[in-house]
Amino acid sequence: MIVKQYIKDFEKLGLGMFVHFGLYSDIGKGEWILHHGKMEPKEYYSRMQTFNPVPDWAQRLVATAKAGGCKYITLTTRHHDGFSLYDTCGLNDLDAVHAAAGRDLVREFVDACRAGGVVPFFYHTLLDWYMPSYKENFKEYLVYLRKSVELLCKNYGKIGGIWFDGMWHKPEEDWEEDALYGMIRSYQPEAMIINNTGLSARGALGHIELDSVTFERGKPTPINCEGAPKYVASEMCQVFGTHWGYAERDFLYKSLAEIIEDVCSCKKYGANYLLNVGPRADGTLRPLDAAMFETLGEWVEIQKEALYLPRPAGIPVEGVGEERDFLLVNGNTYYLFCHRISMRGDGNVVVGNCCDRDSADVFSLPGKVISATWLDDGSEVTLQQHENEVALKPGAYRYGTNLVVRVAKIVIEP
Ligand code: GLC
Repeated sequence: MIVKQYIKDFEKLGLGMFVHFGLYSDIGKGEWILHHGKMEPKEYYSRMQTFNPVPDWAQRLVATAKAGGCKYITLTTRHHDGFSLYDTCGLNDLDAVHAAAGRDLVREFVDACRAGGVVPFFYHTLLDWYMPSYKENFKEYLVYLRKSVELLCKNYGKIGGIWFDGMWHKPEEDWEEDALYGMIRSYQPEAMIINNTGLSARGALGHIELDSVTFERGKPTPINCEGAPKYVASEMCQVFGTHWGYAERDFLYKSLAEIIEDVCSCKKYGANYLLNVGPRADGTLRPLDAAMFETLGEWVEIQKEALYLPRPAGIPVEGVGEERDFLLVNGNTYYLFCHRISMRGDGNVVVGNCCDRDSADVFSLPGKVISATWLDDGSEVTLQQHENEVALKPGAYRYGTNLVVRVAKIVIEP
């Protein structure tokens, strides 16, 4: 099986920020409003006359992404409406250069990423509501698509990857993937090429040039690469609310605890987690979105040692947390992710269980444990080891703390 180093490097990035930004941000009703809102295209595209993000929109996004522990950002350089944040260099006038912004916003994004030390990735739509050729002359559309993507590959220096979306709209068509991916490889041999398989085919493998499978809004499952010609990564993308693009009246938000559990569900199978924000038309974030990233970042900061480099240990964990507790490994160090730990207190302050978890997580380690501590406060973890079998009781959080998921760091003899 071929194992590419850049795919392994992508896995080490661990957490990413997904950014859905475009004309729909100005309408504030989600990125599909042109389609589902039955909006007049003329009215929709007239937003180009006002679309003009603040000068430091990209720097601000980079700062928020970093605060959240993200090491890469995937930006919608063009979404289904066909509007491009990059200079289409004459392919059409439907780009940020011809909007009120009057500038190449992908350039600003890439510059801000590099200055901030995060890796830029480009989302690019395949489905297109704007170009008549998408419906009328598909072969011609594919030429336009490849020319568009080529601009992204050759005008912005080395990028982390390209993230396609929308092939699920015309599954019966020949998308000429060889030509598309081959062109990308000629400019960016080490770019991750990802093609979102959408809600209906999560985790599905595709063309040999694809470097990661996707789990759109669904918890990853193990990827069986056995017998496959190439090792691929996996990535789950997720939204806080129910739209990817800014929707001013989306109140159905996930909790921070759910987001933390998502991060852990990804780590369990070694998948990356790509968490979305939909900036407003000026490029700034809804305060709640920024706060979610910043607060997630506090948790990430506490657990970071376990979140980027360690990989699934492939050791089953038995016990109460059977379905969810799991082990990662990095060298001689193991990380046990413990869920459903209650918080000490009493019936006056704690709803539900406030006792120590009474049953242990049981698993085998290939050596003698020399230390076991909780990552969050360095305190000792109670465990027993008989031969290779370890029994670890996560206990309960001390009153005053609740980490949602707690990580025990276990070091064995080299
Ligand atoms: C879906 C939606 C699209 C969104 C994408 C993100 O494919 O069509 O709006 O960009 O999911 O994963």
